[in-house]
Amino acid sequence: MDKREHFGGRMAVIMAMAGSAIGLGNIWRFPYMAGQNGGAAFILIYIVCSFVLSLPIFLSEAVIGRRSHSNAIGAMKVLSPKTKWRLLGYLSVITPMIIVSYYTIVGGWSVEYFLHSFSLNFGSFVPTGWTVLAFSTVFLALSCIIVALGVKSGIERFSKISIPLLFVLIVVIVVYSVNMPGASKGVDYLLKPDFSKVTGRTFAYALGQSFYSLSLGMGIIITYSSYIRKEENLVVSGMGTAVADLMFAMLAGFAIIPAVFSAGIEPGAGPGLIFETLPFVFSNMGASHHWIGVMISALFFLTVIIAAMTSSISLIEVGVAYLVEEKHFKRGWASLCVFLFTWILGLVSVFSNEAFGIIDAFSSNILLTIGAFIAVLFVGWKMDKEEIRDEITSGGKVNGKVFGLLYFLIRYVAPLAVLTIFVTNFIL
Ligand code: PHE
Repeated sequence: MDKREHFGGRMAVIMAMAGSAIGLGNIWRFPYMAGQNGGAAFILIYIVCSFVLSLPIFLSEAVIGRRSHSNAIGAMKVLSPKTKWRLLGYLSVITPMIIVSYYTIVGGWSVEYFLHSFSLNFGSFVPTGWTVLAFSTVFLALSCIIVALGVKSGIERFSKISIPLLFVLIVVIVVYSVNMPGASKGVDYLLKPDFSKVTGRTFAYALGQSFYSLSLGMGIIITYSSYIRKEENLVVSGMGTAVADLMFAMLAGFAIIPAVFSAGIEPGAGPGLIFETLPFVFSNMGASHHWIGVMISALFFLTVIIAAMTSSISLIEVGVAYLVEEKHFKRGWASLCVFLFTWILGLVSVFSNEAFGIIDAFSSNILLTIGAFIAVLFVGWKMDKEEIRDEITSGGKVNGKVFGLLYFLIRYVAPLAVLTIFVTNFIL
């Protein structure tokens, strides 16, 4: 009998996966990318990329995880022992460990800015140094504690509370933001379709963004899916995750961009948007009504903290699952080891902003694309078709009709698409 833990049910699976998916990608990259690349035209392309290309990759990773019922490295040992495909397992554990090391720094900045919200005195943004180390250590420790509590009592419980809460928080901010004077310019920025901005590059951007946003290529979907019960419908879990992720990205856009335009500035992306532009906007709000500025700012940074934390725990779980299952660590010890390892690795980014940028670009553009590529190749070309059918259709009970299409996408379309963005990223 299988001793491993499982997620409680369909909602638990979707909440945990959406927790991983909804993160900084939705908050600081999507709105700007949409605004700069044709508004509604970009969003349309993004949706097509998500469902036609990213979803098949998501399902490939889900098949690997649930078929093997193992952590990412164990999965490859079970499905293809002693072959070069093991590389996928190793890569799928290494990439998330690298990502946690800098992702939790952003978590630390958010905690710091949440506290600054109460005085609306943000000072200038200092991305490195001892204060950053202190706050990011707190953030990393909290994330590791949640993981240490277990799949059900830690990750599942935290996600089931946080995801609904995130949606409530962001909706409150949206309602306030779109009602600010001059906000309609922001809505135009996000939505006004401009097909003249659509080029080959737009597709590469949209696909890359949807990969990152769905947490593909980093062992997360493999690991989380290994906790999904056999009778759960993987396609529904994938669709649910993609829809929640897209909804949150759109809401984040409507929360941030109109407020920025209302303050008379142009939005940017990345740390500058959240930790420089928005604090300015919040202080402006507070100039006339102090408590409104405080409230919106605090709610916003709370949203960022929670969104970043549900993503961090998914990254940490990849390493913890590996240590528990392959190295027979107790869960608490495994979490402590991941804490120490990523904390030390993170020191580079805590003290050097250039290192932060390089590590981010390398892991989120290169490593995860390679991971996703190998995962679809493995499922499309190495695994037995009947095994995949068995997983996707949950033993023949569901999705019988769409299996053919999905298999075609996994085998031919997705690998070519990933290869294309990879090459495009290098050439352009
Ligand atoms: N999906 C996450 C986001 O949009 C990406 C991510 C997940 C990054 C987990 C790191 C860790 O921010």
